[in-house]
Order: sequence, then structure tokens, then C-alpha cells
Amino acid sequence: MMEVRRICCIGAGYVGGPTCSVIAQMCPEVTVTVVDVNEERIRAWNSSCLPIFEPGLQEVVDSCRGVNLFFSTDIDSAIKDADLVFISVNTPTKTFGIGKGRAADLKYIESCARRIAEVSSGFKIVVEKSTVPVRAAESIRRIFNANIKSNLSLQVLSNPEFLAEGTAITDLKNPDRVLIGGDETPEGQSAIQALKRIYEHWVPKNKIITTNTWSSELSKLAANAFLAQRISSINSISALCEVTGADVEEVAHAIGTDQRIGSRFLKASVGFGGSCFQKDVLNLVYLCEALNLPEVARYWQQVIEINDYQRKRFSSRIISCLFNTVTDKKIALLGFAFKKDTGDTRESSSIYISRYLLEEGACLCVYDPKVRAEQIMLDLTQGTASDKNTPSRVSQLVTIASDPYEACKDAHAIAICTEWDMFKELDYERIYKDMLKPAFVFDGRRILDGLHDQLQCIGFQVETIGKRVNQRIPFTAQDSDPQPSKKMKV
Ligand code: UDX
Ligand code: UDX
Repeated sequence: MMEVRRICCIGAGYVGGPTCSVIAQMCPEVTVTVVDVNEERIRAWNSSCLPIFEPGLQEVVDSCRGVNLFFSTDIDSAIKDADLVFISVNTPTKTFGIGKGRAADLKYIESCARRIAEVSSGFKIVVEKSTVPVRAAESIRRIFNANIKSNLSLQVLSNPEFLAEGTAITDLKNPDRVLIGGDETPEGQSAIQALKRIYEHWVPKNKIITTNTWSSELSKLAANAFLAQRISSINSISALCEVTGADVEEVAHAIGTDQRIGSRFLKASVGFGGSCFQKDVLNLVYLCEALNLPEVARYWQQVIEINDYQRKRFSSRIISCLFNTVTDKKIALLGFAFKKDTGDTRESSSIYISRYLLEEGACLCVYDPKVRAEQIMLDLTQGTASDKNTPSRVSQLVTIASDPYEACKDAHAIAICTEWDMFKELDYERIYKDMLKPAFVFDGRRILDGLHDQLQCIGFQVETIGKRVNQRIPFTAQDSDPQPSKKMKV
């Protein structure tokens, strides 16, 4: 029976770092070394200021770093020493060549496979942790087989990670399931069992699912596609709510109580962001096209299109409410991270909404409690979709505020793009006083639902996703039998 005593993880990112920190904490007899080509990142992992913000992560790292958890740039030594190697490097969407804009770029996975084959000897388990297209393990195997040495034997497993950012530590400690895919051969099964024993330190046996390699790879893509699809579904309904008088929160609650549908992941929003959903759905679409399944490809492509539509719709609503022009108007953008409790901005809807508003000449003042100013400027200047948003124009039109009150001062409108809890507790009276009138608040996350009356009493015009907020009409004597607002458009 093979025992895993030493683990190496290549890639100290949002997945590799937290996953291996939890494995180290839960398996004190196992030595875990996380390696990365990025020296700065490794330095940060070894400091008191970790490179990623994740609730509870610092405590986990503090409990085992220097004991059985190590962060290093010495990739070759860590691979050589390990019984099991996780590949946790990023798999970005290809930006050029065949599959550009859709297919996953596996160049980092491939270079890891080559490195492992070159420096290893004896028996090792190599585990795909990164999300990959189906049959990526085959490419890794082919690289291994082509570089085989007499004293080397490598088994490839797929063990996708399902953690969500912002809740990574709870997700890792209490996973809905752990999925391990491997070869149906005796060697493959024995490798699966060895990895399973690691997870059994804290995950109940019945939550560890084992499958063949391809099912495991495809399950990860399918899980992300299903989750993204739910958000696009509810966002499509939110558009319908806004023109009919229905409220998407009420609809979501009503349909979510059906156990077959379930209540989670039905929150209408400015659209999903994050490093995974868009990339993985595009990847699925590309795979279907490559495998000659155009109907399936078109079905999933629509999930992305609704997401783009939702982002555009929110931006257009801001422009139309502000009397059809935002040119030279200050707009406070509250929240830049792709969701609360993370400093990650990858594919954040805030980036897209900002770009649409900048194209119209708006002056944006952005505030986010966890995202660094340099990151915001980088996101808005890099790879801009339009020729208009040149870096110099972006730096003229965008300022970064260090607190939300500064962001909203002299603004025509506030656009809430991330659901940070602190945005529910702001002093909106103070904010209103310092804004230009009429003062608008656009709630892209439905976090101010309980405050609509209060905000309207202060004087705000409130606009939100998936609900037409009836504007309060000041009460006058003639108005003793108020009629429904004439502003309603059906
Ligand atoms: C994740 C997941 O691992 C992957 O499943 C998903 O498809 C994309 O995002 P994540 O941890 O969020 O990856 O990525 P990132 O934070 O970019 O971390 C990857 C790390 O790998 C980086 O620190 C990078 O420097 C490192 N890396 C990359 C290497 O060490 N070697 C390489 O050859 C390439
Ligand atoms: C996702 C998957 O949840 C996770 O299992 C996988 O491993 C990686 O991809 P992540 O992207 O970190 O995790 O966050 P998630 O909580 O899924 O949110 C993704 C995006 O969807 C965010 O922008 C979020 O705000 C948005 N979202 C989520 C909604 O708009 N509505 C919802 O109901 C849920």
C-alpha cells in the first residue's frame, strides 16, 4: 500500500495555496511544499502579509508554516522529494492561435509535466488540480510516456478543486464532495486510494467520489457551467421583472423553495465574474465545437451571452437614467472585486461596466475595500475592448478613492457592483448631502433592498436589478387618492 508522506504543489495561487495549507493542517505527518516560479508571491506566502485575501487563511497558514508547510521557489527539489505532485498552475483562455478567446491554454500544465518527467525518479502520483479540458490527462501521460526513464513510474490522477473564493477555507474543510478520477488499472486504483487516504483525514468517506479520469475532468467543467447557467437564467428573468413589475428576489424565493430547483445561486446580479466561470464555459463550448457538437456548443454559448447582456444592460440603465449622457459626470463605482470577501478582480463585472461607462466619457471614482489601486488601473488599461479607452484616457477619467464617502462626493450617481457588507451600513444621509442632485443609486447586487424607503426619504432615486422601484411622489393635499406612478412603463 502506497503512503503519501511528501506532497509538492506547483502553483501558489488562489487554488494551490489555500488547498495545500488546509491539507498540511489536517495531515500533520505529511510534509507539504508549495512552489511557484513567481518569487514575489512565494516571499509573500512566507511573510505576515499573504498574497491573497481569504477569510481564515492566515490562521491556517500560521498553524503549520515552517512545521509541515513550506513555500519555496526551488521547484525541482520539491518535485524530486515528493510522493505526490499537485499541478495547480493557471489555465488561461488562449489569446492567440487556434481556439483564441475560447480554448484553455495548457502551456503551463505541459511545462510542469515536462519538468516532472525530467527531474523525477522512482514512483510518483501526479494530480491535475487545475481545471482542464477533458482528456488533458492524456496529454500529460503522453509527455510522460515519451520521456520515460527505466527508474521512473508516474500515475496521473484528476482531482479538481471546487472551492469558491471568499469561502475557500470553509469549502476546503467541509466540502460537498471530493472528486478523484484515475485509470481503471490496478496501478491507477492504488494511486486513487493513496490520495483518498489524504482526504480521509477530515472528509467523511461517503463524500469522496472516485470515477474514471475523463468523468472527473468533465465534471469540473460541467459543475462550473451549471452554476454559471443558473446565474444567467435568473439574470434573464431579472430583465423580464424590470418591465413587468415582478420582483426577481420574490421569483427566486418562490422557485427556489422547490427542492428540485433549490435556493442557492439564484441571486440576480450585474453578471458573474471570477477566473473560472467564463473561461470554463468558453472552454466547454470550444470542446463541443471541436468534437462536432454544434447544437451543444450553441446552448452553452448563450450562458456567456446573457452574462454580457446583463453587464451592458446595467451600464445602459445608468446612462439612460442620467438623462442619456454620462459624459464628464462623476459616477462612484462601489466595489471592484468580482464578489465580496476577496481582493480578486479577474473577469469582474466591474471592469466591463467601467469600460462601457468610460466609452461614454464618464468620470469614474472607484472604491473597493480590498482591491489595490494599481490593480484597478491595470484592469482598466490592459487589453481594453475599445480603441477609445486608451491608457492615457483611462488615467484621466478614473480616480481611486480610499473611502466610500470620498468616492461619492460630488457624484451624480452611485453604482454598487460588489456586494460588500459595508455598503449596507454607509451613512447615506451624509453621502446624499455631498452628491449632485438628482442623486441616483444603482444597486447591481440587491444589497439595499431593506433600505429603499429610507433612501427615497433622504431623496435618492433608487434603481435596482430585477425590480422596478416605484419612485416616491411627494405627498400633496390634492394627492389624497394616489394613483399608480405614471412613470411606470410596461
Ligand atoms: C486557478 C485554478 O488552479 C485553475 O483550476 C483555474 O483553471 C484557474 O485558476 P489559480 O490558483 O486561481 O488557478 O491561479 P493563479 O492564482 O494564477 O495561480 C497559479 C500560479 O501558478 C501562479 O502563482 C503562477 O506563478 C504559478 N505558475 C504558473 C507556476 O508556478 N509555474 C508555471 O509554469 C505557471
Ligand atoms: C466558482 C465555483 O463556485 C467553484 O466551485 C469553482 O471551484 C470556481 O468557480 P468562484 O468563482 O470563486 O467559484 O465564486 P462563486 O461564488 O461561484 O461566484 C462566481 C460569480 O458569480 C461571482 O461574480 C458572484 O458574484 C456571481 N454570483 C454567484 C451571482 O451573480 N449570483 C449568485 O447567485 C451566485
